Amino acid sequence: MHKDGRAVVLETSGVPFYGPDGRLDGYRGIDRDVTRRKKAEKEKAAMTEQLTQTEKLASIGQLAAGVAHEINNPLGFVRSNLNTLSEYLDVFKDLLALHGELSNAYEKGEFEEIVEFREAIEKLKKEVDLEFTVNDAGQILIDTNEGVSRISSIVKGLKDLSHAGVGDLVSHDLNNCLKDALKIGWHEVKNKAAVELDLCDSLSVRCRPQQLTQVFLNVIVNASQAVQENARINILSVKVNGQAFIEISDNGPGMSEEVRKRIFDPFFSTKPVGKGTGLGLSIAYNIIKEHGGTIEVDSRPGLGAKFRIKLPLANEAASAA
Ligand SMILES: Nc1ncnc2c1ncn2[C@@H]1O[C@H](COP(=O)(O)OP(=O)(O)OP(=O)(O)O)[C@@H](O)[C@H]1O
Ligand SMILES: [Mg+2]
Repeated sequence: MHKDGRAVVLETSGVPFYGPDGRLDGYRGIDRDVTRRKKAEKEKAAMTEQLTQTEKLASIGQLAAGVAHEINNPLGFVRSNLNTLSEYLDVFKDLLALHGELSNAYEKGEFEEIVEFREAIEKLKKEVDLEFTVNDAGQILIDTNEGVSRISSIVKGLKDLSHAGVGDLVSHDLNNCLKDALKIGWHEVKNKAAVELDLCDSLSVRCRPQQLTQVFLNVIVNASQAVQENARINILSVKVNGQAFIEISDNGPGMSEEVRKRIFDPFFSTKPVGKGTGLGLSIAYNIIKEHGGTIEVDSRPGLGAKFRIKLPLANEAASAA
């Protein structure tokens, strides 16, 4: 307590002193008033926490805006397709009604009505260009289906993103994840590039194997989508300084610095609409981070791309237990 009644925080440094009998008599030293410093430290901690919170909110906001944008686009054309289909349905209903009338007139043998309804049917067919309408309805259904699949792949991607930390950790050989990823993605890769595998003996990592397979699959599929002629994809696994090290490289067109800086952002994609959601690498980044590892890329225009993933190796004793 200060003499003016204020509560203050004191930092004391001193040395004990002892009486002639060797008993502790007290301390001699100085007290420093650190009230201000403590207050500043407290304010700084609060500010840092607030900043982290703001950053989190900003990235959630960014993600939400991205999701809204990505879903809005296919949703827009699905809605407009449904409107067109409902107009086409009205035409088919009118035609069906006229055919009903025609068939009634035919049953009753009312010749004049038969001619009248036939003419009405032919007129309507011409007006609406029936052949076009039928073909267009088929095409619209295909497009609508594509839009719906796009929305569901975005939703699936978001689920994967939010479930990055779910599931049990087991000791697993990363080489098997790499082989599984290659098996799953083989239909994409086989006609695009020659794949060369250079895997070490075993690479045991505490992990959620399916998630790591998903990471490798996305990087491999990205490579196969990027490469052009004389395409090669090299997959290397090795132990380096107690870490598992995976490198997936391709001799595709590489990427510019602007692209490289953004590839881990959710929804960043340079692929044509409908080809990529842009979630692949952001999910990969989250999964690797959740596993205590890192994922980096080395790429320049014309010089291909090299993805490097490092993960902590399983503690052999822990994994044996
Ligand atoms: N090997 C590569 N070579 C060149 N560019 C790449 C490579 N891998 C990724 N990219 C760039 O990074 C972008 C983001 O990749 P990401 O996997 O996140 O999304 P995507 O492949 O576009 O879509 P999705 O994975 O959802 O199908 C790609 O659109 C592409 O521009
Ligand atoms: Mg991808």
